[in-house]
Amino acid sequence: MVEVLPSILSADFAHLADEVAAAERGGAKIIHVDVMDGHFVPNITLGPPVVKSLRKATKLTLDCHLMIENPDQFIPDFAEAGANWVSVHYEACRHLHRTLEHIREHGMEPAVVINPATRVNFLIDVLPMVHHVLVMSVNPGFGGQKFIPFALDKIRRLKELREEYRLNFHIEVDGGVDHETIASVVEAGADLLVAGNAVYGKGDGETGTRELTLAALT
Ligand code: DX5
Ligand code: ZN
Repeated sequence: MVEVLPSILSADFAHLADEVAAAERGGAKIIHVDVMDGHFVPNITLGPPVVKSLRKATKLTLDCHLMIENPDQFIPDFAEAGANWVSVHYEACRHLHRTLEHIREHGMEPAVVINPATRVNFLIDVLPMVHHVLVMSVNPGFGGQKFIPFALDKIRRLKELREEYRLNFHIEVDGGVDHETIASVVEAGADLLVAGNAVYGKGDGETGTRELTLAALT
C-alpha cells in the first residue's frame, strides 16, 4: 500500500491548519513537516512550536524531516510538541545509532535520510532500527525542484537489502515527486511518497492530494 504525504513546505504558512485539513479531505493520513535551520540547508522554515500548534489542529501522523545540524539537541522538544515520526540526516549525525535510539526512547518512530550523494550501503547496520529510510530525490532545502533519476537506484537497493536481511522498514522518497515521476518511484519500491509542489502548487491541497494519490495507485 502506498501513501502520499503532503509536504506543508509548499502550503500557505499563514493558514497551516486549513491546508492540513484540505490534505486530509483529499485522503492524506500523514503530513510531512520540513524543519530547516539555515545551516544544514540554505533555508529556514519552522520548529517545535509550529509542530505543537499542528498537533492541536490535526490527528494525522506528523512526519518531521529534520534538515538541521545537531538534531539530538531538539529531539525532546519534538517529542513534547507531539511529533510522531522523526527523520534525521545521515550527513548531520556524528553518532547516528545513538540519535536513532534517542528518538525511539522519546516515543517517536526513528528514520534516517540520505542526500542524493550519499550511498545506501552506509545505512546497512542501522536498517533494523528504523521505521523508514527517506531517500532524497533532490538536494534538500527547497520545494519545486526537479527529480534526480538515480534516486530510483537507491530505492531499488533498499528494497533488495530489506529482502536480504528480512526487515520491514518503509521506503520514503522526497523531492520532485509529481504526476510525471510518481509511477517510477512506486515501481522502484517506495511506499511513502512526499509531495509538496504537486499537492499544494495549484492552490488546492484537497484536489492535489486526491489526484496524486490516484496517480500513485494506477
Ligand atoms: C525539500 C523538502 C521536501 C519538499 C519537497 O528539501 O524536504 O519535503 O517539500 O517539495 P517538492 O515535492 O515540491 O519537490
Ligand atoms: Zn522533506
